[in-house]
Amino acid sequence: MKTVMVHTAKPYEVRIGCGLLGQAGEWLTSLTKARVAALITDDTVDALYGDTVASALAGAGLRVERMCFPHGEASKTLETYGKILCFLAEHRLTRSDAVVALGGGVTGDLAGFAAATYLRGIAVMQIPTTLLAMVDSSVGGKTGVNLPAGKNLVGAFHQPVGVLCDPDMLSTLPPEVFADGTAEAIKCGVLCDEALFATLATGDWRADIEAVIARCVSIKADVCAEDEREANRRQLLNLGHTFGHAIERLSDYSLPHGHAVAVGMVYAARIATSLGRCEADCLLRLEAALAKNGLPITAGYSSDALANAALIDKKRAGDTLTFVLPQWIGVCELVPVPVERLPELSRLATGETTI
Ligand SMILES: NC(=O)c1ccc[n+]([C@@H]2O[C@H](COP(=O)([O-])OP(=O)(O)OC[C@H]3O[C@@H](n4cnc5c(N)ncnc54)[C@H](O)[C@@H]3O)[C@@H](O)[C@H]2O)c1
Ligand SMILES: [Zn+2]
Repeated sequence: MKTVMVHTAKPYEVRIGCGLLGQAGEWLTSLTKARVAALITDDTVDALYGDTVASALAGAGLRVERMCFPHGEASKTLETYGKILCFLAEHRLTRSDAVVALGGGVTGDLAGFAAATYLRGIAVMQIPTTLLAMVDSSVGGKTGVNLPAGKNLVGAFHQPVGVLCDPDMLSTLPPEVFADGTAEAIKCGVLCDEALFATLATGDWRADIEAVIARCVSIKADVCAEDEREANRRQLLNLGHTFGHAIERLSDYSLPHGHAVAVGMVYAARIATSLGRCEADCLLRLEAALAKNGLPITAGYSSDALANAALIDKKRAGDTLTFVLPQWIGVCELVPVPVERLPELSRLATGETTI
């Protein structure tokens, strides 16, 4: 087992190890005074792992109340959130009880947001079941739901009491969902760790999965601890996301997040290369690493379409967008860009023009 401490205002531990799932109950009772655990999950994950987790929780003396919702992003709504809150109230969870979020990023965000707001906040343990949730969404404390007007428009920061990652669960993930998480892991390598990048670039790193997850978690934890509420350094985690979000939007969300981020990172590297801010081989190494992991390196949208879609990015602060650009593999910089320059940068990103 590997452990990573996340040093937020209330520090917590991330445990990573194959076979850890059976210890969820013991760990939760050692972290909280909970007598009831609300196990929240989606229908796919419930069928695969719900019984194992429910019996681990019950085995530690907890009363388990289990609720599942239909899998997929379409469930990340105020309606499902409301149903979870009502479920917690109907089963009379108290301030000292706990929510257990078992699933991918959708479950973590939904159940985490319910835990953040029910009785003004009760404990949540995150048990991520996708690679993306293990390396990214379960750490950092962001929770929330989508609105018809856009993704993740409502939410709260709510740190978990602990995060339990059992990579054995990844064996049932469809390959493209696994690849989504790989894109975020490669992002961590490009941001902070050339050795991690080199491991991932082989495309054959499943034997190292515990170490890879632990390294990504510790990178995210370091960035989030320094900057719990996303002012400066946390923006680094948006590498590939400005154009990534634009591409997701243009595809009407048919292209999965990690796939869009993969292309977004290529675009960031191409911009940095064109502006002479980046080592020459960075772009080629990135493209090769993504391709080896079954990820796309181009999306086929015009630079005009990209620029327009990027304009509605919610991370836009006034008339400036902050781009994260690689300088070399392992080091990136934050570059504020006036929105008027977006069309020009989009052309550089897609390679329609060079300087
Ligand atoms: N809070 C954050 O910081 C943060 C960061 C990144 C992404 N997110 C959010 O995360 C969500 C995406 O996460 P995701 O990709 O994990 O999506 P997801 O939760 O929808 O999971 C993807 C699919 O995989 C299935 N699944 C999950 N675990 C499985 C397993 N072990 N075996 C087989 N199937 C399994 C799910 O049922 C689902 O159909 C988005 O809503 C995004 O906004 C949040
Ligand atoms: Zn992301």
